[in-house]
Amino acid sequence: MTDTLVPPKAGTSAPKRLFIKTYGCQMNVYDSERMADVLRPLGYATTNTAEGADFVILNTCHIRERAAEKVYSELGKLKELKDARAENSKTQGGTEKNPMIIAVAGCVAQAEGEEIMKRQPAVDLVVGPQAYHQLPELLTRTARARGERIGADFAPDEKFDALPAERGVNGYSAFLTVQEGCDKFCTFCVVPYTRGAEWSRPVAAILAEARELSAKGVREVTLLGQNVNAYDGEGPDGKPSTLARLAYALAEIPGLDRIRYTTSHPNDMSDDLIEAHRDLDVLMPWLHLPVQSGSDRILRLMNRKHGRQKYFDLIDRIREARPDMALSGDFIVGFPGETDRDFDETMDLVRRVTYASAFSFMYSPRPGTPASGMGAQVPAEISRQRLHALQALLFEQQTAFNQSRVGMTIPVLFEGRGKFDGHVTGRSPWLQSVYVDGVADQLIGRIVPVKIESGGLKSLSGRLVETLVAPVASVLGASVSDKEKAPYGA
Ligand code: SAH
Ligand code: SF4
Ligand code: F3S
Repeated sequence: MTDTLVPPKAGTSAPKRLFIKTYGCQMNVYDSERMADVLRPLGYATTNTAEGADFVILNTCHIRERAAEKVYSELGKLKELKDARAENSKTQGGTEKNPMIIAVAGCVAQAEGEEIMKRQPAVDLVVGPQAYHQLPELLTRTARARGERIGADFAPDEKFDALPAERGVNGYSAFLTVQEGCDKFCTFCVVPYTRGAEWSRPVAAILAEARELSAKGVREVTLLGQNVNAYDGEGPDGKPSTLARLAYALAEIPGLDRIRYTTSHPNDMSDDLIEAHRDLDVLMPWLHLPVQSGSDRILRLMNRKHGRQKYFDLIDRIREARPDMALSGDFIVGFPGETDRDFDETMDLVRRVTYASAFSFMYSPRPGTPASGMGAQVPAEISRQRLHALQALLFEQQTAFNQSRVGMTIPVLFEGRGKFDGHVTGRSPWLQSVYVDGVADQLIGRIVPVKIESGGLKSLSGRLVETLVAPVASVLGASVSDKEKAPYGA
């Protein structure tokens, strides 16, 4: 019976259906794409629903309690699908011969391991974020016996060496993980435990992957790492590189017109990276630089290793190098011991910095982290009120930023069709969605100037213009290559 779980060999049968559901950060989005790449040679093709899928992977996030709990409720639903399929296989004329295989991957897998199978026995295998290159092997082992179904190694170098060179590409903008893990140990955070130690991929491997993406039509890459600006992968000279040097090398790749990177830590924002923002047009004027709190006392308790003044000084230097830089951040309210006064300092910091976008969260105690054992946990109701106040301010700033784009002519990378007929959507240099009326086939995959006519909380809209107005182009500093200045659709 268990033999039926053996993964199919490529080309020997109809494709098996693989459904991957992704939770959490962009690093998980990248990992999910690579899991599909690993499984493709075994005959798995991705589908967008769990119904009818032969193999379902939940790529999970452990960052807050709610994120982890969602996984168990989803597993409950999957169990029903799996049971229904098993019933179907028993009936005469049943269409489904093989059981559904369920895997839990990602950060919950790493944090909880075997516990997941105890809590939900329908789960067949568990694989951590640095071990999913072993999926084919784990699948085979799953077929032979229950037990030995857990891949939880921390060897990111082995993972990247083992991943196929071929990457499935979906669209014109892609994520590229350049660094794994985290060594910062902020007291509230599970990432150092779920992702392991910080490790940067060598420059050559990243350039090869970026060239492959560009050859497949990708125009924009976002370099990923939990402290991506601390990137120190081996350079061509055998010495550690920096993120800035990596960005200059990537900028040489023809067709790769936009580079972003995330997430950055204030302590690793080096001078050469700030200079790169001044000098490199392809480096987009958007920076996600979380500060978490505006209170020095709370920053100390969080082990962030910098204070508010250092953050202000840094923002000044960044804005001097790149005046149109859009800043983004993450905030936690209700960290243990946070007083009204601490929270006021966060509000004050936000008012002084002004963000183009931001994420804000209520503190969630995570098992095993130092903060979860700190006294003086803030009552949920107070945290909720603080979150509302902070979000109201952040939304106001985000709307104001978007409205300040009205009247500008900006380069937009078009990516897809909008909800309405004739609507095409793309991304601004500062990462907002931009909507225009146009012919999708002429626009998608190209960077085209758009005159912005309105801006709301979430998006911008505008109309196509034929050429970039010179002064705006120089203010933006964003690259619009010569071929993109030609009239569209010609
Ligand atoms: N490496 C990034 C962020 C990683 S996690 C950085 O250092 O900024 C993404 C965000 O989730 C964090 O920035 C933080 O704001 C939030 N977060 C992390 N742990 C949390 C917790 N225990 N409770 C609430 N929010 C949390
Ligand atoms: Fe978590 Fe801090 Fe590492 Fe970011 S820097 S991943 S918040 S421990
Ligand atoms: Fe979540 Fe893991 Fe990313 S905990 S935020 S998926 S690194």
